[in-house]
Parts: sequence; C-alpha cells; structure tokens
Amino acid sequence: MKMWSGRFRQPLDPDFERWQRSFSFDRRLLKCELMASSAHARALKAAGILSSDELISILQGLKQIGEKAAELPSFLDDDEAEDVHHFVEKQLVALIGETGYKLHSGRSRNEQIATDLRLYVRATIDQLRHELAELCGVLVDRAEQTADAAMPAYTHLQRAEPVLLGHWLLAYVEMFLRDAERLQDCRKRMNVCPLGSGAVAGATLPLDRTSMADSLGFEGTTANSIDATSDRDFVLEFVNTLSLLAMHLSRWAEEMILFSSQEYSFLVLPEAYSTGSSAMPQKKNPDLLELVRGKSGRILGNATALMVAVKGLPLAYNKDLQETQEPLFDSSDTLLQMLPLVAGWMKAVEFNKERMHQAAESGFMNAWAGATYLVKRGVASRIAHERIGKAVQMCIERGCELQDLALDELKALSPAFDQDFYDSLKLAAVLAVHDVPGGTAPGRVRQAIQLTRKKIESLREEAHAHA
Ligand code: ARG
Repeated sequence: MKMWSGRFRQPLDPDFERWQRSFSFDRRLLKCELMASSAHARALKAAGILSSDELISILQGLKQIGEKAAELPSFLDDDEAEDVHHFVEKQLVALIGETGYKLHSGRSRNEQIATDLRLYVRATIDQLRHELAELCGVLVDRAEQTADAAMPAYTHLQRAEPVLLGHWLLAYVEMFLRDAERLQDCRKRMNVCPLGSGAVAGATLPLDRTSMADSLGFEGTTANSIDATSDRDFVLEFVNTLSLLAMHLSRWAEEMILFSSQEYSFLVLPEAYSTGSSAMPQKKNPDLLELVRGKSGRILGNATALMVAVKGLPLAYNKDLQETQEPLFDSSDTLLQMLPLVAGWMKAVEFNKERMHQAAESGFMNAWAGATYLVKRGVASRIAHERIGKAVQMCIERGCELQDLALDELKALSPAFDQDFYDSLKLAAVLAVHDVPGGTAPGRVRQAIQLTRKKIESLREEAHAHA
C-alpha cells in the first residue's frame, strides 16, 4: 500500500512515479531508519498507542529487516518502494501484518528523513576523523624518518628559504587536523534529534522526545519543529567542511605532481599508485594525485549544488530537500575512498633527499639569513637587506653563490661583514636561525613532531570512542 493514496482518484503517471522515488539512493539510510523507527516505536508504547506485544513484534520485525538486508543485498531490490521509509513499512507489514502500519502513528517522513540524515552524517564524521588520524599518522612518521633532510621552501613558487623536509610534511598535518576539528565542531552542532517534530508542527501524540533522543545517542532534541523538518544546515556545513578538506588534498596533490616532475625530481612516484602510457613506453604518470586533484572539483560542486538547492525554499519541508542526499553521499563516499589511498601513497613515496638537499643549498636561499647576520651586528634591517641584495646581484653576474664572494668584496659593501659570515650561510646555520616555535630549526621541528603526535593520538581516541 502507498503511504498516501487515500485522497487520490487517479493513479500516478508511471514515469513520474518512478522518477520521484528516492529508494535507489536513500536505501543506504536503512540502518539509520531502523534505529530511528525503533526509538519511535518505544515512544509510542510509552504513550499508550502500542501494547507491549505490538511493540515487541514491531521491534523484532525491524531487526529482521536489518538482518535480511545485511544477508541478502537483493532484498533491497524493491521497485515499488518509494523511499526507505516506505520500504520499511512495506516489509514490516509483510513480516508482522497490519500491526506494522501502527508504527507510523504520530510521525511524518519529514522528521524521519531529517533524523536519518543526522545519524548518517554523524557516523560519517566519525569515520572521516578516523581516516584523517591515520593519514596524519603517516605524515608524521615520514616527517620523523626524514630527520635532518632539507628542501627548498617556495614563495610565489620561487625558491625562498631552506626548510626541513619534516617541517614541510607537518604543514599538511596542520591542515588535516584543522579539517578534523571542523568536522568535530559540525558534529557538536548537529547532534540533536528531530524525532517528535512531526510533519511541521510537532508530533500529534505525547511522545517523549528526550528519551527518543537519548536512545539514539543525541545530545538533546531540536528546539523548533518547523526548523527541525526543514533544516539541512548540518548537511551543508558538513559538505562545505568536506570541500575544504578536498581543497587541501588537491593542493597536496598538485604539489606532489610538481615535485615528481623531472624538472624538480624531488620524489619518485610509487609504482603501486601510478600508471603508464599506452603510447609512450617511458611514462609513469601520477594518476592517484591527478584523480585526487580532479575529484576535489566534484566535491566543491556538490557543496554548491546543495547551497543552490536549499536557498530558495520556503519553510518547512519541500520535496526539493530530497535532492540534498545524493551530493551529500557523493562527497562523503569520495573522501572516504580517497583518504586511505592518500595515506598509502604517502607511505610509499620515495623522497629524493639528495636532490632536495642540493636544491636547498643553492639559489641564494641563505640571503635572508645573511641579512640577519648583519642585523645581529647592528646594521638596520633595511640597509642589511639592501647590502645583501647588492651581493646577490654581484653573484648573479658572476654565476656564483654568496659564500663564493671574497671577504674584502663584502667589506666594501658593509664593514660589518667578518669571517664568521661564511658560517652563517651554511645550510645548517640557515635552518638553525629559524629558532622559534613553529619555525624550521631542527629542535623546533622535533618538538613539533612530538606535539603533533599527541594531537593525532587524541583525535584517534575521540574517533574510536564514537565508533
Ligand atoms: N524521500 C523523502 C526525502 O528524502 C522523504 C520525505 C518525504 N516527505 C514528504 N512529505 N513527501 O525528502
């Protein structure tokens, strides 16, 4: 039986009927739907609508539906079910008879879908935070293993200053840890239960909303039935957070692609994550990285699609809201698949430390440290900058580096130059001079590794506690 056919005289146009269904994609909410329905059934019993026997039979029926779906995926191939809510009602009636129709007493699909989606987003946040902890763990391991290896850091994609390879890897960890925190923040705000909101005005039966919320692990109940049934902020917030995460992954991928090119040769692409060319026998292409970068486009697109779908809707529920599901699922699926692959790639990649080191030693990346030498000897910063700039200019003309200039040439630029200037230009000294928290001095990076490990550990623990 349809969920709403009473007032209709004509059947639906068959093409329209098929087209408006959502079961092909909302079937994945079955587990959430069964949990929420069980909570509702208990509230109905407490409100005196169901007898104890009816409650038991409904709860058993719901459990059986879950078991059947887990055992036999084709159980879900139901071409009559309009959506997951209709499917459960149909199956329940098939299993336990007309009592199954009592489950819908006092509730509306509008509050059900709002609840199912919150349960889905909450569980997905926990999974994603777990995956982020894993990825950050790999990045920190790599940072630790690379110890004192140096590389150039760029600004404007021009060589700027040398940094430790570990320092650069930790920069990505910071981004991903922020993403994990944003997800947690989103989780906090969304963890309230719409059950009992009815279609728009609130349930028509005296249901205990707090115990329904408690039994589903929500922190509380939504405050307003109109808002609760029309609100998809939590989906938008979640999907936008995923866009930021995807954007970080895309920047990461872009940088790795650059660094893997022959022009940089900073890293060797792992064969397990690369493919060849059907035409050019010599090729090894960074496919994983390119797909990560490419998929960020659809993730961003999903966030835009959702914003546009919701922006013109009057309160409260409108069927347009059904359209928020697929972009949500697509973004979360895409990221859940991608994160472990990125972690695998990061574990397997081989850094060409020698080449990075060489690059870190050339290209005047010690110029600012050289100016700092003068500043420490009392020269005003602007003047120091200008004198070192002049020295760089001389080097460019001669095709040499700052350390190749003779002391008397330097003294002619500034009397503050002395023999120990040459020590200040050495790579180790240049790294060491950045000795502030968050800087690349080796001691600071070692500290940062320890600190980051602690952050990852608590992220991991939080994610596990929820799972
Ligand atoms: N499949 C619907 C959705 O995802 C469920 C809610 C239907 N509510 C209604 N009043 N037609 O939005």
